[in-house]
Amino acid sequence: METSSHALEIHGAVKAFKKSKAERKDGTGLAKALDGVSLTVGRGEIVGILGPNGSGKSTLVRVISTLILPDAGTIEVFGLDALKHQKAVQRTMNRVSVEASFFKKMSALENLLYGSKLYGMTGSEARPRIKEILANIGFDYARAGEPMENLSRGMQQKIALARALLTSPMLMLLDEPTTGLAPRSKKEVQAFIRQIHGSHDSSVLLCTHDMAEAEDLCDRVGIMLDGQIIEMDRPEALKRRYQTDGDLPTLEQVFMAATGKSFEEAEDEEGRKAQARAAAAKRADGHGTDGIAPDGPADGRGDGHGDERRAVIASGATADAGAEHAGVR
Ligand SMILES: Nc1ncnc2c1ncn2[C@@H]1O[C@H](COP(=O)(O)OP(=O)(O)OP(=O)(O)O)[C@@H](O)[C@H]1O
Ligand SMILES: [Mg+2]
Repeated sequence: METSSHALEIHGAVKAFKKSKAERKDGTGLAKALDGVSLTVGRGEIVGILGPNGSGKSTLVRVISTLILPDAGTIEVFGLDALKHQKAVQRTMNRVSVEASFFKKMSALENLLYGSKLYGMTGSEARPRIKEILANIGFDYARAGEPMENLSRGMQQKIALARALLTSPMLMLLDEPTTGLAPRSKKEVQAFIRQIHGSHDSSVLLCTHDMAEAEDLCDRVGIMLDGQIIEMDRPEALKRRYQTDGDLPTLEQVFMAATGKSFEEAEDEEGRKAQARAAAAKRADGHGTDGIAPDGPADGRGDGHGDERRAVIASGATADAGAEHAGVR
């Protein structure tokens, strides 16, 4: 297991979801959220995936964390086949998603203790570790007893990262860890990610919409669109590749040159598709979701989440997913 030089190695990952009836106009019933994704994350490397809404980032993270199974392709985590050895690879990695799930009436400490239980730790093992992690992130231990809902979103996101650190994961899967945060909290969370990376020697896959975040935090950045990674390199190298005159382009301009559309246009396109999907789903089954809130946009795509929940129940997967499974945010 320790022989691979890569923390993560993916070849040709494909994942299709059933389309809603309204979307089946083109005659096929499946839409590929991942359409042949290959990538590596070296040990100790931070690799970013920059992609607009709906490009497949969260699906990629879910597939890697074995919450959902790919239709095709191979995934190795520290040299171990993630599909054959799900339990073993789950122990080496952790996922933090954009909307971390918590028991919001319970305190930060209680949520962390709950998370540690999912990892098989006892309270007496977990408490000193939690204290240490909270001290490291500059979280006032006195406030750890306050209900989650009293904490700012930035603080909550830090607790989500702290929860992911309980087992010292070797591979961190961060799905938009700073989306929706105020600029100051965003900076703090980014600094914390840098610190985690430095002090825990973790390898990180970071999905983001944020160009500056990708550029600042990541050793290499992949550009994802329509389920494919169309470029992957160091930010500087990407810029040089698309340089046309004297000045190096920005990552935004690189995105435009690589995809033929601006990041904003790509987001808008997906936004329109998501709206159409939500409207179609509403028409199809008037009653909406079942009250358990999975992460990701509530755009009415029901099909895959049932599988996801079952996978979580079967595996105990991530603490984050565990709270999701418990049905509380
Ligand atoms: N469980 C599911 N059932 C049906 N379709 C899904 C499911 N999960 C994702 N999809 C579809 O797969 C595509 C990729 O979605 P995904 O959530 O991976 O994108 P993303 O890049 O994470 O987007 P965002 O930036 O909005 O989080 C989208 O078209 C989405 O609607
Ligand atoms: Mg997402």
